[in-house]
Amino acid sequence: MTDLFSKFDPLIEQRETLLQSGLTDPFNLVMEKVESPTVAICNGRRTILLGTYNYMGMTFDPEVVGAGKNALDEFGSGTTGSRVLNGTYSGHRAVEQALKDFYAMDHAMVFSTGYQANLGVISTIAGKDDYIILDIDSHASIYDGCALGNAQIVPFRHNDVEALEKRLKRLPPEAGKLVVLEGVYSMLGDTAPLREMVAVSKANGAMVLVDEAHSMGFIGERGRGVAEAQGVIDDVDFIIGTFSKSVGTVGGFCVSNHPKFEILRLVCRPYVFTASLPPSVVATAATSIRKLMDSADKRAHLWENSKRLHAGLRQLGFKLGTGEPQSAIIAVIMPDLETGAAMWEALLNEGLYVNLARPPATPAGMTLLRCSLCALHSEEQVGEILGMFAAAGRATGCIS
Ligand SMILES: Cc1ncc(COP(=O)(O)O)c(C=O)c1O
Repeated sequence: MTDLFSKFDPLIEQRETLLQSGLTDPFNLVMEKVESPTVAICNGRRTILLGTYNYMGMTFDPEVVGAGKNALDEFGSGTTGSRVLNGTYSGHRAVEQALKDFYAMDHAMVFSTGYQANLGVISTIAGKDDYIILDIDSHASIYDGCALGNAQIVPFRHNDVEALEKRLKRLPPEAGKLVVLEGVYSMLGDTAPLREMVAVSKANGAMVLVDEAHSMGFIGERGRGVAEAQGVIDDVDFIIGTFSKSVGTVGGFCVSNHPKFEILRLVCRPYVFTASLPPSVVATAATSIRKLMDSADKRAHLWENSKRLHAGLRQLGFKLGTGEPQSAIIAVIMPDLETGAAMWEALLNEGLYVNLARPPATPAGMTLLRCSLCALHSEEQVGEILGMFAAAGRATGCIS
């Protein structure tokens, strides 16, 4: 018998070598208590959270939490059914209405996760004879959506408008084409040149889907994402998003103005063949989305935090993923996995949690310490964070 697990041996060995050096497992941290969107207790110690995607700090908002508690009392703990059977409650409709209002779009469809939203929409609208032209650094859920639908995948160089145009021009003019882009790329925290990319895609007869997972709530005048900030939201055919970041809970969605959009509810397998979100989750999401519409002050403060952290880390001598802050994600580039893991642990010992990211999730084989800021980090906390980076960076030899 061939052990089907033997393909994982190199990874098992790499992991064991790392842990034998006495390092804390960076992929197995337990949050013993979460006190707020910016502070938790880890290993018995107060820890500032700088790796949570909780960009707008909605997880402890009293109205959001209150809506969830009410829904638990009124509708119970779960729906135990698919959206197309017994799993559509008034709360599911209400959160879809909140999304339609937030994006000013005609249609909204809620999935159980953002992963399933990409998986479902991409695989359903682009099939075997269609082409999906996508940025090579696209999220795993986008690639998995392409694979599930069996479409022809045409990748192009990250954020390269000319490369996108060249690929589009080589495809048969009459073929179905879907260009898939992200507003913010979550590994380096850089934004896409959507204005140019959407124009090139439309000029070459392609539909456009933009995943705004990391920009919703924060980027754009009303928090609708990079497509809004760059003035092309009306030209985008589908926006994918998640409730697991700025919205502060779990779930995924697609919004669109396509007149035939609603048919997806019958043919999209990751929507049909899975249970719907619990009533408490959709209630918290709807409340949070409506509050995000009026969060200009929080957006402004988050930009301040992002700029302050980016400038401070650069001044300390760290190499960063972007020349300028472009989002709430600041990626610190580490020379290798061992140093990255040592720095991650040194930061944790200082009282700071960040994400350690490594291939295959990262581009170009990079090891990254990903910092994701929250609108509720105070100016003092950002100062504390910089002090911790200075101490850990010197202790591990990352900076002098
Ligand atoms: C760009 C992008 N799309 C989709 C997702 C999936 O979101 P969810 O956590 O809701 O499954 C993520 C999650 O990290 C993401 O980064």
